[in-house]
Amino acid sequence: MHFSRYVSLCFITTSSLLLTTTAKADQVLLPKPDGAFEVGLSTMELIDKSRLQLFAPSVQQRHFMVSLFYPIHSRKSTTPANYMPPETAAFEDGSELSTTGSAGLVSPNGTFERLALQVAGKSPQTQGTLDFPIVLFSPGEATTRLFYSVIAQTIASSGYIVITMDAPHDVDIVEYPDGSVDLINTTVTNAATIADADLAVSVRAQDASFVLDQLCNNASVVSQLIPGSSHGLDVRNVAMFGHSLGGAATAAAMLNDSRIAGGIAMDGTLYGPVVQEGLDRPFMLMAHTNHTRVAGNGTGDADSSWFNFWANLRGFKLDIMLANSLHYTFSDVPIVLETLGIVPNATIATNLQVTDLNGSRALQIVTTYVTAFLDKVLKYKTSPLLQGPVAAFPEVTFER
Ligand SMILES: *[C@@H]1O[C@H](CO)[C@@H](O)[C@H](O)[C@H]1NC(C)=O
Ligand SMILES: *[C@@H]1O[C@H](CO)[C@@H](O)[C@H](O)[C@H]1NC(C)=O
Ligand SMILES: *[C@@H]1O[C@H](CO)[C@@H](O)[C@H](O)[C@H]1NC(C)=O
Ligand SMILES: *[C@@H]1O[C@H](CO)[C@@H](O)[C@H](O)[C@H]1NC(C)=O
Ligand SMILES: *[C@@H]1O[C@H](CO)[C@@H](O)[C@H](O)[C@H]1NC(C)=O
Ligand SMILES: *[C@@H]1O[C@H](CO)[C@@H](O)[C@H](O)[C@H]1NC(C)=O
Ligand SMILES: *[C@@H]1O[C@H](CO)[C@@H](O)[C@H](O)[C@H]1NC(C)=O
Ligand SMILES: *[C@@H]1O[C@H](CO)[C@@H](O)[C@H](O)[C@H]1NC(C)=O
Repeated sequence: MHFSRYVSLCFITTSSLLLTTTAKADQVLLPKPDGAFEVGLSTMELIDKSRLQLFAPSVQQRHFMVSLFYPIHSRKSTTPANYMPPETAAFEDGSELSTTGSAGLVSPNGTFERLALQVAGKSPQTQGTLDFPIVLFSPGEATTRLFYSVIAQTIASSGYIVITMDAPHDVDIVEYPDGSVDLINTTVTNAATIADADLAVSVRAQDASFVLDQLCNNASVVSQLIPGSSHGLDVRNVAMFGHSLGGAATAAAMLNDSRIAGGIAMDGTLYGPVVQEGLDRPFMLMAHTNHTRVAGNGTGDADSSWFNFWANLRGFKLDIMLANSLHYTFSDVPIVLETLGIVPNATIATNLQVTDLNGSRALQIVTTYVTAFLDKVLKYKTSPLLQGPVAAFPEVTFER
């Protein structure tokens, strides 16, 4: 399995799995972003021969999947792209969509197979695409990067190249182009110590630097990810955001890698030296309801990692809270449920860590504020959204 995976890399074109466009009769289309640009999607496996795979059952080179969402200048018709490749969709059908609950949403087989993104068709017409700023994304623990594709695509549609990065063995499932999968290492994640979390976060941070290095230096990677491109990207001024453990990875990556000009932690407790060392560049915390900065050594809602990190932030900083939200409000889960027409009862919603804030609205709030922050850091645009409460988003409050 693993051997064939490395061999298969030689034959990867782009996105052979995700972009199968067989229109299924019962296909359910996720909303098309209403930004100025259509969005193309590519996926590929990256291998870092200089590092080892974390939490793997055997010694392997570090390898993981990325999805790259790129804006396209010209208007193109869109085509459905499977939200998840087949093994992943089948796995998620049987999962609870939750790391905490025993009474989660167990979907009928075929549920996730039906979901599709609406992306631009593939043709090498990417004139100008390489000029858009780059934004990296790291997912929550136990949550495939694919559960953030709608968020990533929506941000890309306003003029960013957004790259979501998986973290094999600390997310639930990673599926490679040959159909093989890496599952979560529950031995580690079920009994995660602070040391495990620190390690997972620093490995993800190194992945972020590795991805930037590849995008800059490896024209073969860029041409596979963005059709028609023939040289490396400018990675000197990029941003990163992440959900949960991915938010911690964002802060950790910024501490080491000055190419990352700004970062966002969507509702994640922070780990590692960055909590005490802080950062000199812009950072935004996005909190679910009741997730606050509290002195001491609390975790969870009374979060001392946020308290300490906040005190050590020396650049522009924001801590905003979203009313009527829970941890997975900051993911595609709400919009996926809405699109599928699934309304979880209160018990299941709590186990899934979502609320009755509907999917369209959750997506709009999250992507609007993330984009406003990215616009400030990477496009030098100011926005009233970042200055205080606005009437259009009464759900968002500022924790000063
Ligand atoms: C989980 O990770 C530990 C530590 O790296 C490793 O020893 C173990 O083999 C892994 N277990 C599985 C099932 O992959
Ligand atoms: C759903 O799929 C799983 C795995 O493929 C299988 O074990 C299970 O029996 C299926 N359930 C139903 C109700 O078909
Ligand atoms: C630190 O950042 C550099 C790029 O600035 C990167 O090449 C290196 O891998 C990073 N190291 C760690 C430990 O993250
Ligand atoms: C560039 O990417 C290809 C995969 O497309 C990989 O095989 C190769 O090792 C990479 N080169 C460097 C210098 O990282
Ligand atoms: C926030 O905390 C209050 C007081 O403990 C509680 O009543 C409320 O349900 C919590 N809200 C959420 C969304 O967790
Ligand atoms: C903080 O953790 C230490 C042990 O590391 C413990 O002794 C102390 O009581 C904790 N303080 C609070 C406020 O929880
Ligand atoms: C929610 O749905 C689950 C599964 O159908 C059921 O077991 C549970 O009793 C329901 N809870 C409530 C409060 O309705
Ligand atoms: C979602 O909620 C917003 C208000 O929060 C409402 O305007 C909108 O109609 C709702 N959308 C759906 C699809 O329920």
